[in-house]
Amino acid sequence: MAYDFARIAFASAENYENVRSGYPEEAVKYFLHRLGIKVNDRAVSSKEARPFTILEVGSGTGKFTRVMVKVLSDKNVRVIASEPLESMCEQFKVMVPRMDIIQCAAECIPLPDASVDVVVAAQSFHWFTNRAALEEIHRVLVPNGAFGTLWKLLDLSIPWAKQLGHHLDVLDKESSLVFPHQEEWKEVVGMLVKSLFSFPQEYIGFEHSLEVSSCNQAYQHFASYSVIAGNSEIKKKAFKEFFDELMKMHFKEKGNPCTKIPFTIYMYWFHKEV
Ligand SMILES: C[S@@+](CC[C@H](N)C(=O)[O-])C[C@H]1O[C@@H](n2cnc3c(N)ncnc32)[C@H](O)[C@@H]1O
Repeated sequence: MAYDFARIAFASAENYENVRSGYPEEAVKYFLHRLGIKVNDRAVSSKEARPFTILEVGSGTGKFTRVMVKVLSDKNVRVIASEPLESMCEQFKVMVPRMDIIQCAAECIPLPDASVDVVVAAQSFHWFTNRAALEEIHRVLVPNGAFGTLWKLLDLSIPWAKQLGHHLDVLDKESSLVFPHQEEWKEVVGMLVKSLFSFPQEYIGFEHSLEVSSCNQAYQHFASYSVIAGNSEIKKKAFKEFFDELMKMHFKEKGNPCTKIPFTIYMYWFHKEV
């Protein structure tokens, strides 16, 4: 299955929950707004008898789901979480006990045609940047429905993060994962969405950071990235050596502590073309 690599990389969903950051409310509100959903107010009403429906794909442990549900105050909105990995679904149930989660991949969604108003994917579209998933998302969306995707990626204006970002880019390419800060992203995605969705619109304006108390805590965060956690022991060791050297150069030798991991939030949204 396409997500076998994810199964290895996210073997410990509890660790994922502990070392990854959440999402800033302001950014999530803006993202939902761009998808036509009002927040802390009435949501756009569905023309159907059913409630306005948002499907999240690749929900993981529910880090994005929790913020989305918090900023959506309209009780007439139905949020459906979904995730292919059992371990992630189990951790999701611990973290978001009042919400159900469907165990499925974006390529095979067990929902009827035209039953969802908006599909969202937070930090996950790189796992299913393929035509099968886009056709499936297109199928479940209502006419003119929206698909939105966002990521927290390293803020490349910070020198140590830029150096680390370049190192991770090489590993991403080896694993065939495409992220929006890479040159080819728009071309690849533009081709994939053809005849299904409008060309992606983007907003790259929010900053975010994960506070850490030490270089080791920062390391634990990056070691949970799929391209490290799912890689060979040799590559893991090489990454640890690279990271220790990076921390030495940018923090330890200067007598400074590493206190935060800086991110930029990348958002994209597409509309279903009928
Ligand atoms: C980096 S995690 C993001 C989880 C969560 N959305 C968050 O923001 O923390 C990526 C998620 O995508 C899921 N995933 C991998 N392949 C997938 C696929 N084909 N369809 C849907 N989700 C997938 C993984 O299992 C994982 O839970």
